[in-house]
Amino acid sequence: MNTNPDYKKLEELRDRINYHNYRYHVLDDPEISDYEFDRLMGELKLIERKHPEWITPDSPTQRTGGAPAEGFGKVEHPQQILSLANAFNADEIMKWYERLCRLDERVINADYVVEPKIDGLTAVLHYQAGKFVTGATRGDGSVGEDITQNLRTINSIPLSIPVRPDGPKPPDYLVVRGEVFINKEDFIDLNQKLAEQGEKTYLNPRNTAAGSLRQLDPKLTATRPLKILVYSVVTSSDTPPSTQWRTLEFLLELGFPVPQRIKKCNSLEEAIEWSESWFDRRDQFPYEVDGMVIKVNHQSLSDDLGVVGKDPRGAIAYKFPAQILHTKLLDIKVNVGRTGVLTPYAVLEPVNIGGVIVKQATLHNFDYIQEKDIRINDRVQVKRAGDVIPYIIGPVVDVRDGDERIYQPPTKCPVCGEPVENVQGEVGLYCVNSSCPEQLIRVIEHFVSRGAMDIVGLGVRIVEQLVSEGLVDDVADLYGLNAEDLLGLEGFAEKKVENLLNAIDASKDQPLSRLINALGIRGVGEVMASDLARHYPDLDKLSRADQLELEQIEGIGPNISQAIVDWFGMEANQNVIIKLKDANVWPVSELGSIPEGTSNLFSDKVFVITGTLAGMNRSAVKELIQSRGGKVTGSISKKTTYLVAGENPGSKLTKAQELEIPIINLDELIQLAEQDKASTNNRTGN
Ligand code: IVH
Repeated sequence: MNTNPDYKKLEELRDRINYHNYRYHVLDDPEISDYEFDRLMGELKLIERKHPEWITPDSPTQRTGGAPAEGFGKVEHPQQILSLANAFNADEIMKWYERLCRLDERVINADYVVEPKIDGLTAVLHYQAGKFVTGATRGDGSVGEDITQNLRTINSIPLSIPVRPDGPKPPDYLVVRGEVFINKEDFIDLNQKLAEQGEKTYLNPRNTAAGSLRQLDPKLTATRPLKILVYSVVTSSDTPPSTQWRTLEFLLELGFPVPQRIKKCNSLEEAIEWSESWFDRRDQFPYEVDGMVIKVNHQSLSDDLGVVGKDPRGAIAYKFPAQILHTKLLDIKVNVGRTGVLTPYAVLEPVNIGGVIVKQATLHNFDYIQEKDIRINDRVQVKRAGDVIPYIIGPVVDVRDGDERIYQPPTKCPVCGEPVENVQGEVGLYCVNSSCPEQLIRVIEHFVSRGAMDIVGLGVRIVEQLVSEGLVDDVADLYGLNAEDLLGLEGFAEKKVENLLNAIDASKDQPLSRLINALGIRGVGEVMASDLARHYPDLDKLSRADQLELEQIEGIGPNISQAIVDWFGMEANQNVIIKLKDANVWPVSELGSIPEGTSNLFSDKVFVITGTLAGMNRSAVKELIQSRGGKVTGSISKKTTYLVAGENPGSKLTKAQELEIPIINLDELIQLAEQDKASTNNRTGN
């Protein structure tokens, strides 16, 4: 028993953080603000920094992902991880039921639980004494891959159960099964972000979840919006609940997220009716659902019914009618995005998928067309799911009649006719002509959009008019528009002109973070823009930052820092900045500039650096410490405040441990510097 008061505090903090994490990620009903949550996390990190020997894998600080793995180990499942038989209509469900009745007459009076069939990937989670210890993929049903480190990054997976203080005592050993997935909306956002950063986008949410779960670097997995829903107990050291309904209740009480829109049905007819009621409202699920699962409620009956092949007899998937159709690919056209990226899309013979007429579908990127050998005039399979943009799964090769044409990616921009380029290190082709009218339209569209300057009433049509009439050549020109310019445009009456000019004027008051986001720098979205606004007081200061300085901000790597420096380095953009300043579009962030003066976290503190620090050379680390008022010395003594340790730290680490000196890594040092910067800014009232 550890009697150190810090240890007691640490345990209390972990419990509180786990509980608030559950309120936020599982119940979607937070009790405290994000700020307060971050504060609790900061307190815990401080104690753990002081006592690294107390860090355990189930600490909430360990969710951000540890060191990359070289490969995945194997995990033997304690029981076969079974699959499910499918049925495609009510007749097939009735046949399944009749077979069950012949096998066991108790089925005649059985009740059922109906759950959504989430289109994700199975994960098997092991808990020992309430702690999450191992997590695995399904694999071949007997042995799966050890993806514990990746699963730990999923916020809705409890690291310690019960999560709620009033929850039941967990069994000493418990293995549960669930489905890992990505919400449709998060998938769209993630793809957008990846595209902005010039990285490969994913095809669909399931494929994204699969790719993210099998990342060797858990830090990358941690950046993916993965979620889980848990629906069964695989094995338990206590007697497991006797029904599926009770199982879901039990899992919920322990703090697991369980599927919603579930129903206990007293007859098979009711189960069929409930399943079918979701056929034409499947889009209401935030994630992709490919059917409903009908499960015999009583566990003992279900167990007695046994297994056929890999499918338990006691459950069946009632699949939704497919949202995949065949149609003809009439043409391949190309869009020009705001960063100049060219994206191909398919023009289709119109087809009705689930009540929606689909005429276009995404083709992802030029490599995809080649990989899938998609040709113009091919018959293609198209999939639509909810709000996700329809995409082409592939061609139907068997029905080719020789009329198909192989597509060649463009060598010139389809809008301005300038040659296209391959940007190094990025997928896809780019139009690099900054005065390409299509790009300008997209740049302005983004500038005025909701998350950016939010100029209400300035829709795409008007932007197109302004560009084609030559009234705006860049975003700053919006602030030079007057009533006369606008009254000359088609569809503009006085009231509309007045409203629009007012909205443009009002946008001058938007905060710096929005203006930075509005500029449309590749890789800089809303979150990154806020981070930048927290570090730089205005666009002038930001425009002078170099890559090394920018990379000290968490989340900014060499690609983004390069994009920022490149953006501000372009003459056309420098002009935009000058014009914005002249037009009084010049927000100053609340935090102001990097303070001169002293700070609390660094001044008079003594740092020792040891080992190889990945990502920053030693003199830059030294400079960072000294610039905030800290001292750097060569050897550990009682006076040392922190040891900054990288890889292969050697004897300084042992000495620091002996003297109980807090050991931090480079990330933590940078974090400390940011905290220091923010607190000094607040104190100086900038
Ligand atoms: S029950 C013995 N319930 O669907 C238990 N599976 O096509 C068998 N799935 O491998 C699974 N949602 O990964 C069950 N509510 C749900 C499910 C579900 C999704 C997945 C699961 C399974 C696959 C079978």
